[in-house]
Amino acid sequence: MPRFPNIAEHAHSVSARVYSKLAQRARAENAEVFPLHVGDTYRDPVPAARAERQLSDEHPGLHKYAPVQGEPSAIDAFLDYVQARHGETLDRELVQVMSGATAGVSIVCQVLLEPWDEVLLPSPFWPLSRGIIATKGAVPVQVPFYTRLDEPGFDPEAALEAAVTERTVALYVNTPNNPSGRVLSADSIEAMLRVAKRHDLWLFCDEAYEEIYFDREPPEAIWKRPETRDRAIAFHTLSKTYGFAGARIGFTHGPKRVMGAVRGMQTFHTYCAARPMQFGAVGALREGGGWVEESRALYRDAGYLAADALGVSRPEGGTFLFLDVSGLLEAGAEDCSAFLERCADEGVLLTPGRSCGDDYARWVRLCFTSVPPARLAAALEKLASLFRTPS
Ligand SMILES: Cc1ncc(COP(=O)(O)O)c(C=O)c1O
Repeated sequence: MPRFPNIAEHAHSVSARVYSKLAQRARAENAEVFPLHVGDTYRDPVPAARAERQLSDEHPGLHKYAPVQGEPSAIDAFLDYVQARHGETLDRELVQVMSGATAGVSIVCQVLLEPWDEVLLPSPFWPLSRGIIATKGAVPVQVPFYTRLDEPGFDPEAALEAAVTERTVALYVNTPNNPSGRVLSADSIEAMLRVAKRHDLWLFCDEAYEEIYFDREPPEAIWKRPETRDRAIAFHTLSKTYGFAGARIGFTHGPKRVMGAVRGMQTFHTYCAARPMQFGAVGALREGGGWVEESRALYRDAGYLAADALGVSRPEGGTFLFLDVSGLLEAGAEDCSAFLERCADEGVLLTPGRSCGDDYARWVRLCFTSVPPARLAAALEKLASLFRTPS
């Protein structure tokens, strides 16, 4: 019973942070610590986006509440971005400025999910997605997926289909994917859409890395397709594209009956996204095009450098490598904890693969954009020997 001194049942499913112990260990042994477990960038956003550039003189009432839907100028800038990038004219009524994609996914889950509803969550996944679904009392159903795409005989449609039950209400799609670095092909997307249509599922389109792709343009965005318009909710964020994670600005859009309820629900959560940073978002969206291009090239180089140093496939997009370290673990080891400790002893912090899915206890995640290239190279040098030496 959630009565003193107990907490609510669903809160037990939220895992505690595992990093602080490893970070302490790394700091104890090393003058320099490499936080490759953090999914962020070393780059500062364009000057027009920065906090210090948002002035009360230019924006009267800078620190007042913004309209719940968002600052009109931020919505205008986003609509223009979508038009330029995707050739789409979105209905502005269906756009909601939110405190990052995290708030977007969380509030949409609150609007669409009942306790015990099931959401198909292809894995490995962004660690918070599982927790957000679980905190609504719904069930994230993990389907090993992105790491299996090249397996001979792997059938994406059959894999998802096998996980559908009468309680399934939604399918979560994230491409480019955190953490696998995969960009879904048009065929895989088609397979996912057939499952969603066959079982009348909502489609969660997590677009966090929509601009971070390397060797080729990704297929057309899923939410853009005419056949998904009635069921797709898209989560865009400035966190990755514009190096704006701490500003907490994202844009969510979807069908009318969902977005009306989302607007209402947002008032009970954050009311509005931070007003000063919505003006910053205008700066990023209006002036950040060159920055995005530059980042794409820098991140590609960093991703390729990391992959080559560790002897794994190069990422197609995103900011992570996801590495199977089972061959480097002690005989009988259930997970990669001891390996993560060895990395921490060298000063390098990585994420345990289990945070990205129950099937990945023997994998680790590495973010190749959290430190500048020279520091990344130094960290890779430390890791290279650990990746070569089975203990
Ligand atoms: C796949 C994915 N979706 C969503 C988010 C959340 O982004 P935001 O900072 O906008 O909340 C992240 C952040 O790491 C992510 O990796």
